[in-house]
Amino acid sequence: MILNFGSINIDNVYQVSRFPEAGETISSKSYEKILGGKGINQSIAIQRAGGNVKHIGFIGDDEWILNQISSMDMKVDFISKCYGPTGHAIIFVDENGENQIIIHPGANNKFSKSQCFEILENFTSKDTWVVLQNEINLSVEIATKAKELGFKVCYSAAPFDSDHARKMLPHIDLLAMNETELKELQKSLGENVFNLDIDMILVTLGSQGAELHLGNSTIKQSSFVNKAVDTTGAGDTFLGSFLACHNNGYVTEKSLEYAAAASSIQITRIGAAKAIPTFDEVQEFINERKE
Ligand code: RIB
Repeated sequence: MILNFGSINIDNVYQVSRFPEAGETISSKSYEKILGGKGINQSIAIQRAGGNVKHIGFIGDDEWILNQISSMDMKVDFISKCYGPTGHAIIFVDENGENQIIIHPGANNKFSKSQCFEILENFTSKDTWVVLQNEINLSVEIATKAKELGFKVCYSAAPFDSDHARKMLPHIDLLAMNETELKELQKSLGENVFNLDIDMILVTLGSQGAELHLGNSTIKQSSFVNKAVDTTGAGDTFLGSFLACHNNGYVTEKSLEYAAAASSIQITRIGAAKAIPTFDEVQEFINERKE
């Protein structure tokens, strides 16, 4: 079981030929308003990889977002509506598939301690992961309580904030970062992140794949070559897929392989959540490359 206390965003996605300079106005080539947010992207990746996930989150009065989530076979019984705007993101995607993102948290900051703690207390902690990112309020409090109750905690340090990451570190079993976030964390700690007492540290390396650091050993996973159209949500897809496979008892190498394949497919499509491949698509992709 995986409990994801996570963000839900409306992604406003603009495809551009290049990113604008400061003070410059440019015209976009296309526009889409779609489901995103690191939290829900990870939950959908978990669900599509065969994981048993409950997403706990908040939105404003946007029924269509709830419908989008349900249409991906996700249960929405732990997603609540509240007063104020749904969290949202402005995303520029350039011709290389790279992005620039600004988020506004909106309803993602409406988590309350009493509600989160009650949810944690109503689930068994045995073999259950609690997943958090840096897009909701109270993640330090939720992580602290989750560890007290015996859950395993997974944290993706994005969007990166060194103060927040440092507060999370004592409560984490799986820390996920990209290269840039790793460098920032290293700089802020002034010591080797891999010397920290964290069971698993997953570093995603874009087209170079990923590395999983397990105390004294490191497992490297190369990426599957695919032309990137939009890399938004690739890290979320990798982490969610990896965690689902790990929680389902796959050996670590298989979990990494599945995650690399899922994110390699995801980047060939526009959008974050809607681009995440199904289990069958990923298996077929892996099998084709083994033939
Ligand atoms: O990781 C990608 C996500 O970051 C987007 O879906 C956007 O909503 C932001 O949260």
